[in-house]
Amino acid sequence: MLNDIVDVLADPADLTPLRGADDFTRLVSESGHSYDVAKQGYVTLAAGKGIGHEGDSLEMVNSRETFLSNGHFAPFVESVSDALADVVEGVAGDADPVILEAGAGTGYYLAHTLDLIQGARGVGLDVSVPAAKHLAKSHPRVGAVVADVWEQLPIRTGSIHALAVVFAPRNPAEFARVLVEGGEAVMLVADQGHLDELREPLGILGVEDGKIERLIAQSEGHLVPAAAPELIEYPMQLGRDAIAAQVGMSPSARHLDADVLQARLAELPEQMEVTARAQLIRMRKA
Ligand SMILES: C[S@@+](CC[C@H](N)C(=O)[O-])C[C@H]1O[C@@H](n2cnc3c(N)ncnc32)[C@H](O)[C@@H]1O
Repeated sequence: MLNDIVDVLADPADLTPLRGADDFTRLVSESGHSYDVAKQGYVTLAAGKGIGHEGDSLEMVNSRETFLSNGHFAPFVESVSDALADVVEGVAGDADPVILEAGAGTGYYLAHTLDLIQGARGVGLDVSVPAAKHLAKSHPRVGAVVADVWEQLPIRTGSIHALAVVFAPRNPAEFARVLVEGGEAVMLVADQGHLDELREPLGILGVEDGKIERLIAQSEGHLVPAAAPELIEYPMQLGRDAIAAQVGMSPSARHLDADVLQARLAELPEQMEVTARAQLIRMRKA
């Protein structure tokens, strides 16, 4: 809930602290700005003209929920949660740790992590309102925030013990700003070969070359690698419904015509082995 994490939230306009007002129906900042809490429990924290883009649609969020709830990415969630637990153990001391997930989607990774780390609190941040509605319900210790990762994050400087980014956009300068000393960003990045068996038959987007190298180069001056990248690769057995859900939750959902996709899905075998492949990257402040 938002009241559990309001102590790490900041006014997107000027980063002054926020607090709950009127029974937490709004958050107000020291500088006098007010942000309404939606009845579904999330808050939109954007300065000036608001948020310029929408992120995942309701259909994409629902597809994601369907796919993830069937456990196909279980090895991914285990690795991310274990890494976050390891970070928190080293850095939080006696404090209840705070974990921020940027581009948190349905909250699958954050909720799993909070189950693993007793007393930890989670900030689920996503630019998508349908995602934020899910996030707000994903775990009793999650607070959901609609905000844009490309902007200044509405998070107090030096307040986050561990930060997670799973297949979502990254803002290394802001990640470094919000982390406590010794905190780390744990990022799961799709690697070449991920979902490869589906690319040709369905005409979906591939993973571009050199993604990890670019991530490290773009982080220069803000974040440095804290460990060697860890490859996570395993085969998934996916039926056609799971494949449809996987495509529906991915950027391919936006660029493929629905009828064309249906026709291509119908051509697939009932069940397929599909490779899941990603790199787990841990980075700390430079
Ligand atoms: C591929 S999904 C990953 C969601 C979640 N991490 C997971 O793996 O289940 C990417 C997420 O990032 C969000 N997103 C895209 N652009 C964003 C931005 N600029 N700021 C915040 N979130 C963004 C999308 O709405 C979506 O929920």
